[in-house]
Amino acid sequence: MSDQFKKEAAERAAEDVSSGMRLGIGTGSTAEFFVHALAKRVRDGLDVIGVPTSERTATLATELGIRLATLDELPELDLTVDGADEMDAALNLIKGGGGALLREKIVAAASGQMIVIADASKQVEALGQFPLPIEVVPFGLEATKRAILGVLADLGLPQALELRGGVEKPFVTDGGHYILDARLQKINETEALANRLVAIPGVVEHGLFIKLATKAYVAGADGVKTVWPV
Ligand code: A5P
Repeated sequence: MSDQFKKEAAERAAEDVSSGMRLGIGTGSTAEFFVHALAKRVRDGLDVIGVPTSERTATLATELGIRLATLDELPELDLTVDGADEMDAALNLIKGGGGALLREKIVAAASGQMIVIADASKQVEALGQFPLPIEVVPFGLEATKRAILGVLADLGLPQALELRGGVEKPFVTDGGHYILDARLQKINETEALANRLVAIPGVVEHGLFIKLATKAYVAGADGVKTVWPV
């Protein structure tokens, strides 16, 4: 069922795209439905150019005939459409479940608008039930981990960090980094946590997307709802 909802939200977002737009294209299962819906519109004559947020999305978009560019070629985008792992009422997000958070955030930040597409299970009162992905450089991993644990302790958050993929075979991002997933349960001071994490030298980015989303399409049993940040 949730696949059907993801598809409905994605198709609704594809209707917002108009010819001439420079588009950021997200990553994940919901974003893949968007790529398919967009490709259908391109086959029908829509003229857009996309910047993908991952190698995975680039491969799919190319296969489906969507014209792509790099963010260096198109450093200002009109709209990014992407999924989310969690979204609160302010449309602050946790992203990075698929490991593409760094490019997703760079692309979203370069876009005038960001539409989040999701099934209703992604809506939460407070962020944090979904583990927060923190992208780190492999060099000095242990020291970076300790610095992150220190921040979590200062903010009264659980000190539960897990290297994605495990020590034997860590997951490696498109940027060549590792991901530490933090099981925080409930994040109260979202901005303080975001600021403290990026101040750690070994941290490249984290999956808190604050004030980046401008609108969301959320699909559930009662159809697709448009959600604005409150
Ligand atoms: C990818 O890194 C993520 O940010 C995805 O956008 C997020 O995990 C949502 O994925 P699904 O659409 O597969 O739930």
